[in-house]
Amino acid sequence: MSNLKKILVNRISCKHVWFMRQAGRYLPEFRKIRKKNKNFIKLCLNSKLSSEITLQPIKRFNLDSAIIFSDILMIPYALGQKVEFEKNRGPKLNKFNYKTFLETGETDFLKKLNPIYKAIKKARRGLKKEKSLICFIGAPWTLIVYMFHLKNSNDNLNIKRFRYKKGDIDKIINKLIKFCCLHIKNQINAGADVVQIFDSWAGLIPINEVNAYCYLPNAKIVKFCKKNKIPNICFPKGIKKRYERFNKVVKPDGLSIDFKIDPMWAKKKLKGVVLQGGLDPRKLLSSEEEMIKGATKYIETFKDIPYVFNLGHGLLPETDPGKLKKLIKFYRNF
Ligand code: CP3
Repeated sequence: MSNLKKILVNRISCKHVWFMRQAGRYLPEFRKIRKKNKNFIKLCLNSKLSSEITLQPIKRFNLDSAIIFSDILMIPYALGQKVEFEKNRGPKLNKFNYKTFLETGETDFLKKLNPIYKAIKKARRGLKKEKSLICFIGAPWTLIVYMFHLKNSNDNLNIKRFRYKKGDIDKIINKLIKFCCLHIKNQINAGADVVQIFDSWAGLIPINEVNAYCYLPNAKIVKFCKKNKIPNICFPKGIKKRYERFNKVVKPDGLSIDFKIDPMWAKKKLKGVVLQGGLDPRKLLSSEEEMIKGATKYIETFKDIPYVFNLGHGLLPETDPGKLKKLIKFYRNF
């Protein structure tokens, strides 16, 4: 059993560190590959390259877990929506087509995503057995934010673009839940041992919809994972004090906290779950002292409970890999 799996399943304390977006633009070895591969979706579907990128941060930093190089938007892509990434402008999706979306079946979906499963197999072969290979999905709401262009560049929500009949909204969410579970199951069958469920825009959900758009879909996916003995970590970013309710309703094995959550509060209120992360990724852009001071707050607070060291969101492209190396060393020597 990989170490991360042991921590999540048995809720044991054991030093473990990995980073969200550890495979990505801050690494020169990634940028080199990316430069020659302008189409991001195609790169995610190139099993040889995506498995190689997955292992880059492990080779460089000997991190305890690898996360498969892919994207949450591979699900809308496989459900028939065209996805493009424009340089420095983030993802751009074609207009949502309700009919195509509802009609896309499992066979088509899995055929499109098969290169990801192949990449997982390859990456697993390149990892020592005590290292985990994390797979991931985007939670339905966060996928909807991109599928319906609900967010502008200032992160303001335009919920009007998601005004469908109640029955249709339920159909969309249920279809996403089903295909999220399918994608998880296939990634695990290919050799991943833990899944992280990213609900990066959960904090934008209108208050009266949090139950329907955040707690319920996450709870259903976690229930599926538990039924299939798949260790899981949820990341409902930005929901503030509602993390407590989320934990009680969804009951994930692991809960990743964002940088706005006070670690002392988390320790007191989030029980029966393995906590992960928290440190503001911007701390890695400040002085070394500031970074260490920031990290100490989390490591010190969580030193006597099961805790996975990570950040409160993904590594920023401007991060200096040398700084990250120092942070890892500091954590390991703590
Ligand atoms: O190292 C890893 O964490 C694995 C790979 C990974 C990527 N995306 C690669 C990627 C993971 C786990 C993701 C998840 C993801 N993708 C999320 C959830 C986590 C989060 O950051 O909140 C979201 C919301 C997306 C959607 C997405 N993909 C956006 C908004 C963007 C563009 C802007 C950005 O944040 O980078 C992407 C592109 C993307 N996904 C890149 C990478 C390395 C950059 C692509 C490039 O080189 O231009």
